[in-house]
This record gives sequence, C-alpha cells and structure tokens, in this order.
Amino acid sequence: MVDAEENTNDGHGLDIISSITHELRTPINSTKGFLELAMKDPELSLETREKLKKALESVRRMSVLVNDLLDLSMIIGSGRFHIYPRWFFLGDIISTVEEDCSHMFPDPEVRFRVELPEELEKLKMRSDPVRIRQVLVNLVDNASKYTIRGYVDLIVMRDGDRLILEVRDTGIGIAPENIERVFEPFFQESSGTDRKSTGTGIGLTLSREIIKRLDGSIEVRSVQGEGTVFHVNLPLESSELDMVENLFSESHGGG
Ligand SMILES: Nc1ncnc2c1ncn2[C@@H]1O[C@H](COP(=O)(O)OP(=O)(O)OP(=O)(O)O)[C@@H](O)[C@H]1O
Ligand SMILES: [Mg+2]
Repeated sequence: MVDAEENTNDGHGLDIISSITHELRTPINSTKGFLELAMKDPELSLETREKLKKALESVRRMSVLVNDLLDLSMIIGSGRFHIYPRWFFLGDIISTVEEDCSHMFPDPEVRFRVELPEELEKLKMRSDPVRIRQVLVNLVDNASKYTIRGYVDLIVMRDGDRLILEVRDTGIGIAPENIERVFEPFFQESSGTDRKSTGTGIGLTLSREIIKRLDGSIEVRSVQGEGTVFHVNLPLESSELDMVENLFSESHGGG
C-alpha cells in the first residue's frame, strides 16, 4: 500500500464532504443491489422494466458521483488517497471495463469497440487495477456522452516499456482554448443535450491525479467536430516485459 502525498490543507469542508459521501455509499449500493435484483424478475411488464432500468441508471450515476467526490476530497483534502498496487492480468481488467461500459451505448449509431492484442491480453502487470478501471470507465463514459454517431474505441498498445491505453471517439471534440482546462476540477464545456449535462466535471481531474500516482501521464488531442483521443501512458516493469517477449515468441514459434 502506498499513500499518495498527504496534503496539509485544513480542509474542514472537505472532511464533511468526505464523511457525507462515505455515509451515502451504503444506501446507494443497497438501492443499486435491490434494483438489480428486481430487474431479474421474469414476470416484469415491459413498462415496469423500463422504469427500473431508468432508476438503475440514475443510481449508477449517483454512485459514480459519490465515489468521485470522496476521492476528490481525499486528494485535495486532509485525508489519504490510497493506491493499492498488485499483480493482475491486463486482459481481465480490460474485459471488466468492456462489461462496465456496454450499457453506455444503447444507440446503434455509436459502436463501442475494444482492441486488445493477443500478446497483451495475458500480460501480467503490477499497478492498481481498480484505479486503472476507474480512469478507463470515466474516459469511455465521457466519449459516450459526446459522441452522437460513429465509434468509441478503447485501444491497448505497448510502446517499449510503456503501456498505452487510448480512448478515441468520433464525437463533438473540444475547443482548442478548453483543451487543457478539461482537467480542472468542475470544468465542463457549455452543455447542450441532456446527456452532456450529466456529470460534475471531476472525472478527468481524478483521472489525471490517479495516473500521476501510478507514474504515468494522460494527454488529450481533439479536433472540433471530428473527435477526441485521450492517451494514457503507464510504466511496465521489466519482468512484465519479459513475459510479453516470452509469450510473443511462443506464439510466433521462436525468438
Ligand atoms: N470525449 C470527450 N469529448 C468532448 N468533450 C469532452 C470529452 N471528455 C471530456 N470532455 C469535456 O471535459 C469536461 C470534463 O470532463 P470530466 O470527465 O472531468 O467531467 P464530466 O464527465 O462532465 O463529469 P463527471 O466525470 O464528474 O461525471 C466535460 O464536461 C466535457 O466538456
Ligand atoms: Mg466524466
């Protein structure tokens, strides 16, 4: 367990936010659990199912918001923000992200695709998988909110001793003057549609902080009206790389 740098803000307001959000997690999780259970009832009418689905969607958003607020208060407040590094298979985390995100694309006009090369699927790496998942889900969620047609791609690549994770979309893009501001807390470009106005503007602030604490970096490129690419770069330790080399040479019949 590694504690991220502890801030010396007096942060009483943040302590309150942190306790309230913490307390909110239990009832939200239980509501989410019961709604999910209720949805499993095969006798449900279509109408009721639709209503439950909407309720579940709202509770999911609430849950993300509460967790994000809690993290933010930990990062900028007096609390501790934890990173828990452990060994995990890259493929496992990417498939969880795929599952978590599939409900974000109900409209067939927008396709969600995941590109994970076979040799990276079995890559065993040491980092914080829960935090990586949190960042990727936020990036895909953003892309889904600002893309009306086309695609959202999650692409996994390796560049030497770095792991590259990219989320590319064919959405509305970001104005050049706002491109760096998207990482500021509570920043949101003026919203138009319903979906766009959901959210609080802290997802990217958190994502950048998390990636920084994992010794990586996050960058954004965008062309208005064409789309956006969020590029995450994370370190791979040498033992992780040996493993990829071995797997790669095995599957290609020699060195
Ligand atoms: N893929 C994208 N395409 C266009 N604009 C984007 C994209 N991703 C982020 N943005 C802009 O950056 C802002 C900040 O994103 P961020 O994830 O921090 O907040 P949010 O999604 O609005 O809310 P939250 O993540 O807290 O639920 C967004 O409100 C949006 O204006
Ligand atoms: Mg977001």
